[in-house]
Amino acid sequence: MHQFKLAEDPSSSELHVERASVSIGRVQIVQDVSFHAHAGEFVAIIGPSGSGKTTLLKAMTGELSYSGSIRLAGMETGKLSAEYLAQMRGVLPQASQISFPLNVSEVVGLGVIDRRQGRDGRARRIRDALAKVGLHGFEGRSYQELSGGEQQRVQLARVLCQVWEPVADDGNPRWLFLDEPVSSLDIKHQYQIMQLAAGYAAAGGGVVAVMHDLNLTAAFADRILVMKGGKRLSFGGRDEVMQADLLSEAYDFPLALTRSGESDVPLVVPGGGSVR
Ligand SMILES: Nc1ncnc2c1ncn2[C@@H]1O[C@H](COP(=O)(O)OP(=O)(O)O)[C@@H](O)[C@H]1O
Ligand SMILES: [Mg+2]
Repeated sequence: MHQFKLAEDPSSSELHVERASVSIGRVQIVQDVSFHAHAGEFVAIIGPSGSGKTTLLKAMTGELSYSGSIRLAGMETGKLSAEYLAQMRGVLPQASQISFPLNVSEVVGLGVIDRRQGRDGRARRIRDALAKVGLHGFEGRSYQELSGGEQQRVQLARVLCQVWEPVADDGNPRWLFLDEPVSSLDIKHQYQIMQLAAGYAAAGGGVVAVMHDLNLTAAFADRILVMKGGKRLSFGGRDEVMQADLLSEAYDFPLALTRSGESDVPLVVPGGGSVR
């Protein structure tokens, strides 16, 4: 098995995407996208439906092959073994169908890959992960019978179990790749999960999240990649990207920015006059 690189190596805490392209069959879905991120930051990927966000994320996590370069901790992700990838990054897919009759504890337990955990350690980890996503006491519930939002949070608990420590014992960060992690949650749980992800980054982990909601993006993202038509439209810090003209172009819809009260976080609202 590969060893993690030494923590002093600056590339060990970076995600480097350089001219990455992804084709499915003969269709090129992602074209020449470049950006880089550091562990310790919350990076959001936004853009209209069908702009290639999920496809790009899957290339970054090693699920889809790509051309160009995508390096995590200095290593080309496409060349890493599934076992090694599983140690360094967790992935929350956009939709997770499970057709087996599993209970919540069994689903979350799929993420406990650290074999040093004894039976009690494992049960504790599952319980702690469920508490973090606001599902304390859900262990014995049937996964199939949960609401969509509860299932989404169970899946996030599973991912957290996999990469529990934002920074591993050897000083190297772990990464969370999240595809629309809060899209089926109510507002309280949206904030709770965004705070959890931001906390993971603040503790030194890497977070890359495809985001549907521009206001949550504005509130939590340190850097933002904007996709349109399979290409990078923009990449930069929150204030650089959260601009009315740029967002209006991205979504092909007039948008304006406003502020509420004393908050320094911009709010995105429809622009260009009457909307109803
Ligand atoms: N497996 C696939 N086969 C063919 N086309 C696909 C496949 N996956 C995605 N696409 C197409 O690629 C485009 C981008 O999809 P996706 O990455 O899921 O976009 P987003 O996540 O931004 O909504 C869409 O037009 C979609 O229809
Ligand atoms: Mg998607």
